[in-house]
Amino acid sequence: MTRAYNFCAGPAALPDEVLEQAQAELLNWHGRGVSIMEMSHRSADYMEVAAQAEQDLRDLLAIPANYKVLFMQGGAKQQFSTVPLNLLGQARVADYIDTGIWSKDALQEGKRYADVKVAASAEPFNYHRVPRQDELRLSQDAAYVHYCANETIGGLEFDYVPETEAPLVCDMSSNILSRPIDVSRFGVIYAGAQKNVGPAGICIVIVREDLLERALPITPATMTYQTVAKNDSMFNTPPTFSWYLSGLVFQWLKRQGGLTAIAAQNERKAAKLYQAIDTSRLYANPVASANRSIMNVPFTLADTALEKTFLQEAEANGLLNLKGHRSVGGMRASIYNAVPEQAVDALVAFMADFESRYYPG
Ligand SMILES: Cc1ncc(COP(=O)(O)O)c(C=O)c1O
Repeated sequence: MTRAYNFCAGPAALPDEVLEQAQAELLNWHGRGVSIMEMSHRSADYMEVAAQAEQDLRDLLAIPANYKVLFMQGGAKQQFSTVPLNLLGQARVADYIDTGIWSKDALQEGKRYADVKVAASAEPFNYHRVPRQDELRLSQDAAYVHYCANETIGGLEFDYVPETEAPLVCDMSSNILSRPIDVSRFGVIYAGAQKNVGPAGICIVIVREDLLERALPITPATMTYQTVAKNDSMFNTPPTFSWYLSGLVFQWLKRQGGLTAIAAQNERKAAKLYQAIDTSRLYANPVASANRSIMNVPFTLADTALEKTFLQEAEANGLLNLKGHRSVGGMRASIYNAVPEQAVDALVAFMADFESRYYPG
C-alpha cells in the first residue's frame, strides 16, 4: 500500500519507520505476549519505556538538569489554565504577547485567573510579523510572560526568544523539536504532542524546578506541576500508548542526526515551498520573511474560485489535508519533521502544474 503525503496540521504525519515498528510490536511487545497498551503503567517494562522516552527527549533538546519533563494530559489548551494556576503565586499580573489565534486563546483563558496585560500584539501588522523585542511593554510585577513560538494557523513564527525578567512561558505545540533551542531561556515550555511529536493525548511540559512551588491552592491535583513531577508523570494513569509512540519518534529523531540535522532539512523544505509561492502568480503568503513558519505554510489562491478544484486534484494526487484552518480559509501545508522532503517536492510540482493549467500567465 502506498502512503499518501499528509500535510495535516494535527494530528499530523508520523514517520513510516515509527509506525512500522509500532505495528511489528503491537500484538506482542518484546515477547511479553501482550501489547504495550495492555500493560500496567507501573510495570517495570513500561516504566523503562517511559523513562527512556524522557531521556531521549532530554538528549534531543539538551534539557538542563534543573528542569522537570512532564508528560501531561488535556492537550495544549489545558495548559492555557494550568500555566496561570501554577505560576501566578502571590502575583496578579501576567503578560501575554498576541501573535494570532492560539496566543489569543491562551490570553483569554488566562483572564479567568490573572490580570492579563497584552505586552504586544501583532494585530497592527495584520499578524504578518511578530512584535520586536523593543516593542514589548513588559510589566514590572508580572508572574510570567506567555507567548506562542509558532502560530499554527497564521504560519507566523518568532525568529527570536523574548528577553524577560519574569519567567518566560512558551506554547511550542507546533514547532517543538523542529530545531535546537536553548531551554535555559524558558521557565515553562509546553507542547501538545499531535503535531511534531506523536499521537494526540499527551502534552509535553518542561518546567524549571524553582517554579514548582507557586501553585494556587485551588489547582486540581492532576494539573499541579509539583504533584505530577513528584510522581514521574504517573500521578494518575498516563496515556501509555501516546507516551510509548512519542518515545519511538524521539529515537527516530536521534537516528536522523538529532535536531541540527532535522533543522537543516526543515529549512530546506520550507524554502522550497515559499519559493514556489513567491515565484508564482496564483499563490501568495503575506508573512514577513523573517517570521515565516518553517512548520506551517498557509497560502491563498489569487482566484479563490479555484480552491475546491485545487483541493480535489491535490487529493487525487495523494496530497492530503491542504485545506486552511476553518477560521481563515485558503490553503495550508504543514510540513512537520515527519513530512519527507519528497512530499514537499511533490506538492511544489503539483502547484506549478495546477497553475499552468488553470491560471496561465
Ligand atoms: C500553537 C497551538 N497551541 C495550542 C493548541 C491546542 O492544542 P490541543 O488541541 O492539544 O489542546 C494548538 C492546536 O492546534 C496549537 O496549534
